[in-house]
Amino acid sequence: MGKILVVYYSRGDENYNVGTITVGNTELLAKEIVAKTGADEFKIEPKVPYPASYQESVEKATEELTAQARPEYIGDIDISEYDTIFLGYPIWWGDLPMVVYSFLEKHDFTGKTVIPFNTHEGSGNAGTYEKLKEKLSNANVIGEGFNMTGVKSRKDEGIQELDAWLKTLNI
Ligand SMILES: Cc1cc2nc3c(=O)[nH]c(=O)nc-3n(C[C@H](O)[C@H](O)[C@H](O)COP(=O)(O)O)c2cc1C
Repeated sequence: MGKILVVYYSRGDENYNVGTITVGNTELLAKEIVAKTGADEFKIEPKVPYPASYQESVEKATEELTAQARPEYIGDIDISEYDTIFLGYPIWWGDLPMVVYSFLEKHDFTGKTVIPFNTHEGSGNAGTYEKLKEKLSNANVIGEGFNMTGVKSRKDEGIQELDAWLKTLNI
């Protein structure tokens, strides 16, 4: 798989079904992938953070989705040296958070293998793997990504399921 990078966005604070958390659900999966593969990581951090209140974040995310906004994020990473990129995100309104599109549109994914993973609370991947295939048409986007509920990602059984999936990738 060559050199591996894990890029993800994840929101802590008050979240759906899990109370107030310091580390987001998708971030837990991202950290496990880093631990198991030795990959480098880049966390997409919006310049303007989402409110700690779940309801206020939902409102902001709705506005951004409607406007097809491309929120700015802090720092960046040169992805040219990586062959395989795990891309992690929560499902927001059946889509990727807009700040993830900001990252995707700033980088050239030509020839990269992209492995999506996500957390959700019922929508699965919500068609985002197909969306990513269209969006990153010059990359090899793996259609069989990994997803689980945010609630499960916080349990040992969730992490074990992730580890089992990682093994199937033969990294
Ligand atoms: C703005 C917003 C929109 C969401 N929309 C969906 C959705 O459409 N479908 C779904 O299954 N879960 C939805 N969720 C739940 C999140 O996908 C879920 O809580 C996820 O695990 C959060 O991951 P994170 O802690 O890494 O940000 C939404 C959450 C937020 C904050």
